[in-house]
Amino acid sequence: MEYKNIIYTLENGIAKIEINRPKAFNALNTETNNEIEDVVDAITDSPDVRVLIITGSSKVFVAGADVTELAEANPRDAYNNCCLAHRIFKKLEALQVPVIAAICGPTLGGGLEMALSCDFRIAGESGLFGLPEITLGIIPGAGGTQRLAKLIGASRAKELVMLGNRIDAATAKEYGLVNVLCKDEEVAEEAQKMAEKLCKRPAIALKFAKECVNFGANMNLDTGLEFEKSRFSLAFNTADQKEGMKAFFEKRKPNFTHK
Ligand code: CAA
Repeated sequence: MEYKNIIYTLENGIAKIEINRPKAFNALNTETNNEIEDVVDAITDSPDVRVLIITGSSKVFVAGADVTELAEANPRDAYNNCCLAHRIFKKLEALQVPVIAAICGPTLGGGLEMALSCDFRIAGESGLFGLPEITLGIIPGAGGTQRLAKLIGASRAKELVMLGNRIDAATAKEYGLVNVLCKDEEVAEEAQKMAEKLCKRPAIALKFAKECVNFGANMNLDTGLEFEKSRFSLAFNTADQKEGMKAFFEKRKPNFTHK
């Protein structure tokens, strides 16, 4: 597939999707969503990718779904639109490799919802977060009402979802929405540093760790603990478990082979 609205690169195991629709503040139209899904599908099957970074430009991450498309939608179109967004962001969330959102500027509506489907969010000081759908007479339809409340709590989430408030990067950090807050010009470097650190972790255990946290977030404690048990024991079937513990006793850094 030829990409018109995103730039995709892969270097040393670190894949990067750069949303590139400057004229529309990187708004996610159907074509852009399809391109993102195509990359996510390719990454799902690729042994070459160890980490994914999703980013926008130095001015904007993503200003939401494309309102020009939404304005003409009837309920059936809106339903289909919602299904598409849910499908893509669920695939993104379920990727076996870690996903980092590297953010500068407005991260609104579908843009925040995409960032919420990532494992980590790194934001520059210009980061601006909100779910302005309520001001358009609708509600978030790409997971925002669910994932944001789970991440920062229902009360704070309602400030964005119901009041339509926008919060700056420092507040987002305080709320636990942002993992790393830095200067705008340091965002790419911080994302690269985090990606390289994740690349050094044993890939299979890393995948299990992500699966356990994501699974448990939507389960009761006992079900989550059962799942943890299964993944914990499976980790002892890997060469990296042997190497990690051997290196510990030999007081050296482990040489993980991701097997
Ligand atoms: N869709 C389509 N076009 C958009 C857009 C969007 N989401 N966001 C910005 N644009 C366009 C504007 O229409 C404008 O186009 P023109 O130059 O042709 O007029 C251009 O980008 C620049 O926008 P502004 O003039 O508003 O620039 P600004 O610097 O004053 O503000 C902004 C930038 C803060 C991003 C502001 O545009 C804004 O608040 N956008 C929010 C849009 C929004 O409501 N997003 C939620 C969409 S609904 C959704 O996402 C549903 C869902 O759950 C999936």
